[in-house]
Amino acid sequence: MKYNRRKFISFLGKASLGVAIAPPFLISCGNTTTPNKITSQKKSKEELLRLKKLVLEELIATDKDDLILTKGLNYHTIIKWGDAINPEDTFGFNNDFTCFIPLDENNPNDGLLWVNHEYINPLFVSDFDFNAYKNPKQHRTIEQVDKEMYNVGGTIVRIRQENGQWKIVKNDPLNRRITAQTPISLNWDTPIKGASTVRGTNSNCSGGITPWNTFITCEENYDGFWGETEYNEQNIASHRASDYGWEDFYKYPPEHYGWVVEVDPKSGNAQKHIALGRFAHECCTLYELEDKRVVAYTGDDKNDECLYKFISSKQGSLKEGTLYVADTVNGKWLALDWENQPQLKKKFKNQTEVLIRAREAAKLLGATPLNRPEDIEIDPITGHILVTLTNNKNKNDYHGSILKIEETNGKFDALTFKASTYKAGGEESGFSCPDNLAFDLAGNLWMTSDMSGSSMNREDKPYMPFKNNSLFVIPRYGKDAGKVIRVASAPRDAELTGPWFSPDGKTLFLSVQHPGEQTKDLKNPTSKWPFDQDNIPKSAVVAITGDLIEKMNVLHHIEAE
Ligand code: FEO
Ligand code: CA
Ligand code: CA
Repeated sequence: MKYNRRKFISFLGKASLGVAIAPPFLISCGNTTTPNKITSQKKSKEELLRLKKLVLEELIATDKDDLILTKGLNYHTIIKWGDAINPEDTFGFNNDFTCFIPLDENNPNDGLLWVNHEYINPLFVSDFDFNAYKNPKQHRTIEQVDKEMYNVGGTIVRIRQENGQWKIVKNDPLNRRITAQTPISLNWDTPIKGASTVRGTNSNCSGGITPWNTFITCEENYDGFWGETEYNEQNIASHRASDYGWEDFYKYPPEHYGWVVEVDPKSGNAQKHIALGRFAHECCTLYELEDKRVVAYTGDDKNDECLYKFISSKQGSLKEGTLYVADTVNGKWLALDWENQPQLKKKFKNQTEVLIRAREAAKLLGATPLNRPEDIEIDPITGHILVTLTNNKNKNDYHGSILKIEETNGKFDALTFKASTYKAGGEESGFSCPDNLAFDLAGNLWMTSDMSGSSMNREDKPYMPFKNNSLFVIPRYGKDAGKVIRVASAPRDAELTGPWFSPDGKTLFLSVQHPGEQTKDLKNPTSKWPFDQDNIPKSAVVAITGDLIEKMNVLHHIEAE
């Protein structure tokens, strides 16, 4: 045991210094193991002693309206809804996925932060109360819809750390918004519904990073804004209306949404990757093979939908390649390949239609329905792929689980794998509804929960013991190894999303999304976090720092030097 730990520490120490012996999955699997050099860190004996003495204490579940952190952690707010990033633009609503890319790989304290804006609450954004009318859509105006469209998509903002505090660099020329009206090209040879450039992105939930250092943002519940084209048994199409009714004002077809979108950090240019299929993409986690081809894992967050992986046939391409869907019962990746799958040829006109209707194609091939596949991370130590399955109340799975995929022979381009449950949610394990995951530099797994605002803290629901949504850590080693330990509790109605570590591992960027979501009257909100002068709840991105992160994440590097 001792030998293994020492070996592990020394391996991480080298990896942290960017030495080439680190296996590629450690430095290229995205999220926390960001493919950036880590600067060497020195600590005094006193500091080391203080960190060593610090004990990881579990936070008791609470329904308090605040962002509460366990001992050894503290936070400051970097940016919140409505904050100006330049004279024209403001930070959007309901921030989710975050991703930080330093401008200079030798300076981990100055870079570009990408933030997803997933959806809006019209009560806050456009002063429209859906509950005030019997037929609310008849009362909507284009001005309201325009405000809503501005507040989704994403933000790029330069941030810098000074004296331990991350601050936005206001008016930096690289600051920009991408909204539901920004022109975005389709990375595909055939136009979709007559277009090769479409309007905007929305429902941006989680995402990823490419090995070539661009942001990935994923379009999840697009049908809430644009509706969906549905097909009956005779394959005749009809339109299912959206909840928000944007399609009543702008005739943008649903087929332009539900894709994986890549954004260049510096130019802001965006493209939608059609080859990765169309569905409620939660996230997209990329891995670069030795020959520079890429593998991308992405889940469809809906009850009884599937897990997918794309394997490119060319270096660095998210266009040329094959999309597969998981049969987790038999451990097989099934190709969504019109040319070579007779069932697909019989039902669909061509590969473009297969990709647009990927859900139907997946079911035809015998893919396994899963309980809402959400975030995906690659364990930097074992290379196993972890997938959160949030829940499936229709199947009496209230607390969800984490699925483990072991690719055959550890090869990410394998077409067979073994699936098992890594951890099941519930009172015994101490968590419910797992959503976002992030590995830190030492291989500890950090996880957020997503119990819905309408189910939390209610006597008549099974979520009562868990109180507010939380952030957990699953330590890699020590006496708590493998335990699920609550380290942060979200404000009322909120979920914590988008965990992302800074390149030096000392900051955990985290989104606090939809505090006060159950508010019916703005004068009497269910949350007031972050307690600013406006007295209404606001989603915000915070920076979590402190001795506990240093101890868990960084100390091992220092020990190894
Ligand atoms: Fe947007 Fe699946 O969470
Ligand atoms: Ca999510
Ligand atoms: Ca979620």
